[in-house]
Amino acid sequence: MTQPTIVTMPGDGIGKVVLPAALKVLEHVGYEANYVPADIGWEFWCTEGNPLPQRTIDLLKEHRIGLFGAITSKPKDQALEELDPELKSQGHVYYSPIVGLRQHFNLDICIRPCQSFKGNPLNYVRRANGGIIEPDIDVVIFRQNTEGLYSGVEWTNPPDIVRAALDTHKKMASFADVPNEDLAISTRIFSRKACRRIILGAFQYANKFGYKSVTICEKPNVIRETSGMMREEAQKIAPDFPEIALWETNIDAQMMWLNKNPEDYGVIVSGNMFGDIVSDAFAGLVGGLGFANSANIGETCAVFEPTHGSAPKYEHLDPPIINPIAMLLSACLMLEHLEEIETSRRIRNAITAVIAEGKVKCYDMMKLVGGPDVLAKGAATTHEMTDAVIAKL
Ligand code: NAI
Ligand code: MG
Repeated sequence: MTQPTIVTMPGDGIGKVVLPAALKVLEHVGYEANYVPADIGWEFWCTEGNPLPQRTIDLLKEHRIGLFGAITSKPKDQALEELDPELKSQGHVYYSPIVGLRQHFNLDICIRPCQSFKGNPLNYVRRANGGIIEPDIDVVIFRQNTEGLYSGVEWTNPPDIVRAALDTHKKMASFADVPNEDLAISTRIFSRKACRRIILGAFQYANKFGYKSVTICEKPNVIRETSGMMREEAQKIAPDFPEIALWETNIDAQMMWLNKNPEDYGVIVSGNMFGDIVSDAFAGLVGGLGFANSANIGETCAVFEPTHGSAPKYEHLDPPIINPIAMLLSACLMLEHLEEIETSRRIRNAITAVIAEGKVKCYDMMKLVGGPDVLAKGAATTHEMTDAVIAKL
């Protein structure tokens, strides 16, 4: 079998620290692949006026698998200030290259697993029967990544033609007196194809990894059309997976239940914004940004990344202190996507063992404020955590 080629994109700040940590672990676990480094991020905005150069898109198009660290985005005026003076008059406009990647390759399925590791001091606990219970959380959020409220179809002061179209809806009567310039409209557009893809993806994932339920987390009783379409498609797909229960929750109730009984859920499917919310909420129960990992899957390409950003506060610390586990878990997602289930399991077991042992902890796991002094307080460096995982392999 030919070795896969993986496009590696460290990006900015701590992306340059955590991505090499993942490659080191992949090497030690004996995973054989070709790695092609690719340019992405702030540096390329400043020097080329494009944070996502075409050559990077070409590499992803060819090899179809990307492992990504993190990028830095800055507000528009600051972006223009830092642009090479020779490029300033050429009309370049900064955009986030990771959002650019999701759009270019239509990476419409975002997978965000939220699993508690035994012994992680950041785990959610609750009081019960005079003691403390630490529930075993193992939830995987499937978030629609390209449509819904984040698709960018919106107006303040909508053009007359849009207003006229909206006025054909009888519920617009309550806005009849509002002038266009006082109206802000953000649309929530769902397509049946995208609903089907994410629901089918979720059921297949549940089937592959033994989850007992798929929960559609939307709000169909109020947002009847879009949430309703998600629900309708789920009911069509569910009978093909008789072993997996189809559950439905409303996003608001889900936010309450995830604090009461997070251990009850398996795979959860949501549209873009609700998926953003519910995945951050679950991530907070199992360790937060040092653990939050994700996959962005399209029909022709997939990109795996930690959810955190470039953490500029910590990028110049030497040795680095940020937690590499979110990046390592993202590499596990990549391995699973490539059907390297056993290799991924070995890395996950090694991470589980390090956390359970409790000797090596990054500063976030000690609930310290980041800074150079955390090492004197017993926090592990990024390298020490990486090496501890490798030692357990
Ligand atoms: P951030 O995720 O970079 O960091 C926020 C804070 O979370 C850090 O200061 C740190 O205290 C903690 N943190 C993050 N990752 C950690 C880790 N691995 N271990 C331990 N602690 C960790 O978010 P922030 O500060 O809002 O954004 C910084 C830059 O990153 C911005 O330019 C933003 O646009 C960009 N960003 C990029 C993302 C991406 O590449 N996908 C996602 C989010 C933000
Ligand atoms: Mg978010």
